[in-house]
Amino acid sequence: MKILITGASRGIGRATALALARDGHQVIALARTREALTSLAGEAEGPHPVRTLPMDLQQPDENALHTALAELGGLDILINNAGRLINRPFLELTDADWQAQWDVNVLAVVRLLRLVYPFLAESPSAHVLNVSSMGGFQGSAKFPGLAAYSTTKGALSMLTECLAEEWAEQGIAVNALALGAVQTEMLAEAFPGVKAPLTSEEMAEFFAFFAIRGQQFFNGKVLPVSSSTP
Ligand SMILES: NC(=O)c1ccc[n+]([C@@H]2O[C@H](COP(=O)([O-])OP(=O)(O)OC[C@H]3O[C@@H](n4cnc5c(N)ncnc54)[C@H](OP(=O)(O)O)[C@@H]3O)[C@@H](O)[C@H]2O)c1
Repeated sequence: MKILITGASRGIGRATALALARDGHQVIALARTREALTSLAGEAEGPHPVRTLPMDLQQPDENALHTALAELGGLDILINNAGRLINRPFLELTDADWQAQWDVNVLAVVRLLRLVYPFLAESPSAHVLNVSSMGGFQGSAKFPGLAAYSTTKGALSMLTECLAEEWAEQGIAVNALALGAVQTEMLAEAFPGVKAPLTSEEMAEFFAFFAIRGQQFFNGKVLPVSSSTP
């Protein structure tokens, strides 16, 4: 499969890119930090080298993206994993905080989806996997400081349901995984001292399976992936 994964410079995205490459898939790894992507490509094992695409999704380079996808020969799977978390009490969140949070977690996904649509529409087994959060899952436990972050993830989950319907005729499946805590730098920065039940590598094994096979069983679904959060 031909796969584009965002947020691949560290955390769950990096581990997933490595797992997919190891499983024999052709992977483009996207993030802003060029050196981290180069290091990922160097570490990857598998029959195909991991291609790197340094890019800020807040200002995507359409030409670079199209060139990379043309070189790959198409796109079957997009994993919208890049994300940002601002942990700040609601009354201290500025408009700039809200805009930054929504721009990375929602609008950047919307922009990328628009750009890659022509490639996905050509794939016989297209799958968009949005990485959401239990924080944005209706009825789950909520935490102070996460209003901006959690509302973006709620929006991403709703976008998943809407787009699955809108793109059904084109045969593009769209699903979201709403994650509980995973031990990454994002988690450590937002919640110092919190110990998550899963490592990035453990979550990556599930991501790699779900990205490749999930569209056979699910479409328009937001699935909670958590053993601890109600
Ligand atoms: N860890 C958890 O407990 C947890 C729980 C629920 C949901 N999630 C979600 O899972 C996903 C991965 O989380 P993580 O913990 O692995 O996060 P992470 O370690 O902070 O990694 C985030 C990734 O997103 C990339 N990124 C951020 N802004 C970007 C931008 N403007 N353009 C391109 N890339 C950008 C970062 O790369 P650069 O800085 O190099 O650009 C990095 O590779 C996120 O969507 C997160 O919200 C995580």
